Amino acid sequence: MSEDIVLLNSDGLRVDGRALDELRPIKIEAGVLGNADGSAYVEWGANKVLAAVYGPKEAQPKYLQDTAKAIVQVNYNMAAFSGDERVRPGPNRRATEISKITAEALENVILTNQFPRASIDVYIEVLEADAGTRCAGLTAASVAIADAGIPMIGMVAACAAGKIDGHIALDLGKKEDNFGQADMPLGYVPGTGEIVLLQMDGHMTMVEFRKAMDMAISACEQIHELQIGALRRRYAVNYADMDDGGTEQ
Ligand code: CDP
Repeated sequence: MSEDIVLLNSDGLRVDGRALDELRPIKIEAGVLGNADGSAYVEWGANKVLAAVYGPKEAQPKYLQDTAKAIVQVNYNMAAFSGDERVRPGPNRRATEISKITAEALENVILTNQFPRASIDVYIEVLEADAGTRCAGLTAASVAIADAGIPMIGMVAACAAGKIDGHIALDLGKKEDNFGQADMPLGYVPGTGEIVLLQMDGHMTMVEFRKAMDMAISACEQIHELQIGALRRRYAVNYADMDDGGTEQ
């Protein structure tokens, strides 16, 4: 992280013209894949992320099974063509870390004790990356799990806040992530007020940290509305397609 590059102009606007507390444009669509049990697609600024869910199904190999609850397995992957330079395919340290923290966040909300010995498998494919893919992935995965009909306490919405040119800013873009002073991805469950993911790269004071948390939480509340909207649209389409034309019983 370097302080030589100017990330805020004299009007207090960021390199992409956003205000400090402004999200990038976000679009969420549920049920985009025919073969997965649940799926979602998220466009978040220049990020494009697909999530697919299979399960609950019997966990294989059997030694993975937990007799008390389902296990949640996440596979986060960046497509070879997702970055400025070709991303080397296959698992790596970063993908393993993001898969792990995403699974742990989701375990907090999925009612895993209803499905002993089962596995819930979540695949997150990053098609285009522009910083913030773990938050976009977790946001998409929550919608895909809901689309699969898997019971949850509530959906996780995720968003980062960070520090650029000495100011706390929401949802850092790639340049801000590279040249800012801190980045703090946060996963939040608006239904319960729980934080299920919190990471930090860089440094903030305690006051800055609280400000970043408040900013990220309020963004998660907005994102949660978009998640619900995506599920509502998905349900409305299926309802209209029913044989009886969707007339209420
Ligand atoms: O994507 P996220 O911000 O959650 O994770 P990061 O590790 O902070 O990565 C920031 C960004 O760097 C990614 O979103 C990508 O745009 C880029 N990146 C990349 O192009 N190739 C990689 N192998 C890793 C990251």
